[in-house]
Amino acid sequence: MQINGKAYRTIWFENNSVKIIDQTKLPHQFIIKDLKTVKDSINAIKTMEVRGAPLIGATAAYGLVLSIIEKNDLSHLKKSSEELIASRPTAINLKWAVDRMMKKLSGVNDNDILRIALEEVKAIVEEDVSFCKNIGLNGLKIIKDLADKKKDTVNILTHCNAGWLATIDWGTATSPIYHAHQKGIKVHVWVDETRPRNQGANLTSYELNEEGISNTIITDNAGGILMQRGQVDMCIVGTDRTLSNGDVCNKIGTYLKALSAKDNNVPFYVALPSSTIDWNIKDLKQIPIEERNSEELSHVEGVDENNEIKKVRIYPQKSKSLNLAFDVTPAKLVTGLITEKGVCEASEKGLKGLFK
Ligand code: MRU
Repeated sequence: MQINGKAYRTIWFENNSVKIIDQTKLPHQFIIKDLKTVKDSINAIKTMEVRGAPLIGATAAYGLVLSIIEKNDLSHLKKSSEELIASRPTAINLKWAVDRMMKKLSGVNDNDILRIALEEVKAIVEEDVSFCKNIGLNGLKIIKDLADKKKDTVNILTHCNAGWLATIDWGTATSPIYHAHQKGIKVHVWVDETRPRNQGANLTSYELNEEGISNTIITDNAGGILMQRGQVDMCIVGTDRTLSNGDVCNKIGTYLKALSAKDNNVPFYVALPSSTIDWNIKDLKQIPIEERNSEELSHVEGVDENNEIKKVRIYPQKSKSLNLAFDVTPAKLVTGLITEKGVCEASEKGLKGLFK
């Protein structure tokens, strides 16, 4: 998608290093950063210079390429794979991508390993782009139906950033929105701010602005009243891990949006590529929920009058806080799952119908 009128992807490989857009600096500064070692990749995932389930999966896969470049040795590769998997716990794409790479590289000789690793990362990345594009085309039909019925702008609420910045291109939740906009359907997006890291305000609003899509930032708590007032036609969110029964784990606060949507008969869709499906875990309580540093709650970041990024504390120093990064929305609150293969019911039957 576009930044300043120029098409970008979120990650690419150039001159033996991995290029990323540093998302901790957006929307204030646009900085392309080089990852040269596997440690750089782990650090980029941990500090959320890259974030979003599909993108951290791709970054981990590229991390293995960097690991081979720095030391073409099996025990180093294994250690790198373990450290990459441990860098963030909730999004299943991370383990999925590393496992896929390691399977492909198993038994490959030293002369071929780098070439094969690069080919496999390319396959992962291109697959994600095509899956996200298809999610968009499948979700477009839902938006078009709403627009045809309403004969007016369709108001869509989204939470966090499940946009192109969270993937390689297109995004998951945003892909149907981008496709609708490109087809001339009038859409307006309510963007949840998404405390504490403000991925909605900082990233979703930014990328929608760059694509010329009308959007309004709201506090995380405003969705309920907007739904009661009939100002939300549908919700679309992403997911970091989708259980085979249709439960979806996503950024903290998603569950509360789904409850509000249910109470107000607002359709609540979750957009996902099949790489976020966890076919093994059966119970939502078994999903590892990331708990992040409490400083993300006690401090806020913004720019001063000189456009310099500043961080300030907003809590009493003595106060304790708990920073859970994800929650789980039970399948019964989800109207449908928008996948690369079509839209299905949020249930084992629905998912297995599409992904045998
Ligand atoms: O903590 P983050 O910013 O990595 O969380 C991102 C989300 O929760 C997204 O909604 C999710 O990864 C889906 S991305 C297409």
